[in-house]
Parts: sequence; structure tokens; C-alpha cells
Amino acid sequence: MLLCEPVAHECFIIIMKKLVCIFGSPRNDGNSDILLNNAIKGAETSGVYVEKVIIRDLKIAPCNSCGGCREKGVCVIDDDMQRIYSKLVDADGIIVASPIYFMGVSAQLKAFIDRCQAFWARKYILNLPIREGGRIANGFFIATAARNAGEGLFTGAVKTIKAFFHVLDTKYEGEILCSGLEEKGAVDNRQELLQQAYKAGKQLIKA
Ligand SMILES: Cc1cc2nc3c(=O)[nH]c(=O)nc-3n(C[C@H](O)[C@H](O)[C@H](O)COP(=O)(O)O)c2cc1C
Repeated sequence: MLLCEPVAHECFIIIMKKLVCIFGSPRNDGNSDILLNNAIKGAETSGVYVEKVIIRDLKIAPCNSCGGCREKGVCVIDDDMQRIYSKLVDADGIIVASPIYFMGVSAQLKAFIDRCQAFWARKYILNLPIREGGRIANGFFIATAARNAGEGLFTGAVKTIKAFFHVLDTKYEGEILCSGLEEKGAVDNRQELLQQAYKAGKQLIKA
């Protein structure tokens, strides 16, 4: 007679830290994409889970100031942004990359950021936390521009990203502001910037 012993199964759950990487350029494989992909390579060596949000591939309408989010802290516009909100809340780290367009971030990224007015309503009208237990994420900004860094070239974009991180309870940990990059792929000749991006991705959050 064959006796069967119950087999004990041990179950391990590994909770990985999450890094959300926001690609803000309408130009695919451009300078900000290249730098952000380098940051991702760095992050992956730290064993974090990386979620890419490629804004040019999403349908995101601009905020129309309807005030709908004031009721429940939830945006009422039904488009691709609806599946991004929870990713921003779950994030332990957020890296945003954008080209400089007329001294600010790209229009596509700005529309995305404006849709985070729903988080503003949650925080300042409804007094709700962004993340459970008031958890703070770490944020980093990568910007690329054609001009040589002059007075205020990145000032507007940095202010916008700081406001975005602030509403999302995300600490502005640092930035790489790259001037003199006009043509697609020009950053490939700037090893120091590629390395800085890799290092930033590696260090932003630890597994
Ligand atoms: C609509 C538009 C506006 C731009 N405005 C600026 C600007 O104000 N200052 C600047 O230095 N570069 C400006 N640029 C150049 C881009 O910032 C630059 O080429 C950048 O490297 C593009 O990044 P990407 O390859 O990731 O798209 C502009 C480019 C476009 C298409």
C-alpha cells in the first residue's frame, strides 16, 4: 500500500519597488528617450520593477477645468490617463524625461501633468492622502534642449516638474539638464550624460 504524505509548500512573496518612467517627448528614440532608457538600465541593476509610461502612445486629453475631480478626487475624463493614476500612486520612484519646448516641457507632458489636478483635489479639497500611510516617492527629472544653457533655459520646466512631484507627494531628488542637443540621437556622443542618467536610475530607489 502506498501512503501519500502531504507535501508542505513554502510560498515566498517578493515585493519589488516600483519605478515609473515617464517619456515626455513626441519624438521616439530622441535624446530624452535615450537618457531615460539609460536610467532604466541603471535601475534594473538595482532590482526594481520598471513601468514605462510613453505619453506619445497614449490618448490623453488636456484638463478642461470641469471641476469634476473636486467631488471625489477622481478625474471624470474617460481616456488612457485612467489607467495611469494608480501607477503614479503605487510608485516608489518617478523619473520624468522631457525635451524643452519654448522654455517649458512638451505639450503632451504638460497635458498629462495638468490631469494630475485630480491629485490636487484629493489632497487640498478632500484632505485625502496620495499614498497609504503618507508614503513619499523619490522623483528625478531629465530635460534636453538644443540651445546652449543660457539664462533660465530650464527654469520653467523645472518649476513644472517640481509642482507635479509636490502634488504627488514625491521628493525632487535631482535632475540632469542637458543643453546643446538638437538632432535626434545627439546625446549618443555625450558619454558623461549617458553615465549620469545610468547612475541616477541606479541610485533613485533601492530594492
Ligand atoms: C516645438 C519645439 C520647441 C523647441 N523649443 C526649444 C527651446 O525653447 N529651447 C531649446 O533649447 N530647444 C528647443 N527645442 C529643441 C529640443 O528641445 C531639442 O531638440 C531636444 O533635444 C529634443 O529632445 P527629444 O529628442 O527627446 O525630443 C524645441 C524643439 C521643438 C520641436
